[in-house]
Amino acid sequence: MKNIVILISGGGSNMAAIVRAAQSEQWPARIAAVISNRADAGGLPFAQANGIPTVVIPSQDFASRDAFDAALRAAIDEFLPDLIVLAGFMRILTAPFVAHYAGRMLNIHPSLLPRFSGLHTHRQALAAGHDRHGATVHIVTAELDHGPVLGQVEVAVLPGDTEAALAIRVLQQEHILYPRVIRDFIEHGAPAQH
Ligand code: GAR
Repeated sequence: MKNIVILISGGGSNMAAIVRAAQSEQWPARIAAVISNRADAGGLPFAQANGIPTVVIPSQDFASRDAFDAALRAAIDEFLPDLIVLAGFMRILTAPFVAHYAGRMLNIHPSLLPRFSGLHTHRQALAAGHDRHGATVHIVTAELDHGPVLGQVEVAVLPGDTEAALAIRVLQQEHILYPRVIRDFIEHGAPAQH
């Protein structure tokens, strides 16, 4: 059994999709913990209701990124993780933190990377006038939103789309993409890079 630790900051709908898939598909892995940098993260009650240990490390209480990342790392490592899954975890991580989990930390980003790293990706896609948008799962490296891509899903941008409408359709596809990629990663590891 592999141990997965999921990090969230908000609603946690990707986390919930991963928890449900792990249960219903009987993954050879358990969600060992859900850790949030915000006490009010909407996903925490879902994790608790599913018997998953939760931990809050409030980022606002730390004076520096280094101090927060050290506390976060200590909390994560209590659960002996094989895989760290960032699921709407809205913090930029320091290079030493990323290095500690090199090759075993995944992120989902709501755009077709390398397009639109950073924030407000749906707004950026609409402003650029693209007719395809989507989401990407990648391995986390020190450069924000730039690690090796493990999977992508495309969503059509519709005439008259709003940022909110597009975000909902992308999120629905994230809920399919992320569990599929994580399961593949657990069972087969990272694909060879060319
Ligand atoms: C998701 O759309 C995810 O791709 C995005 O935040 C949302 C979290 O939703 N992540 C990022 O923007 C990371 N830079 P959720 O909390 O309901 O899973």
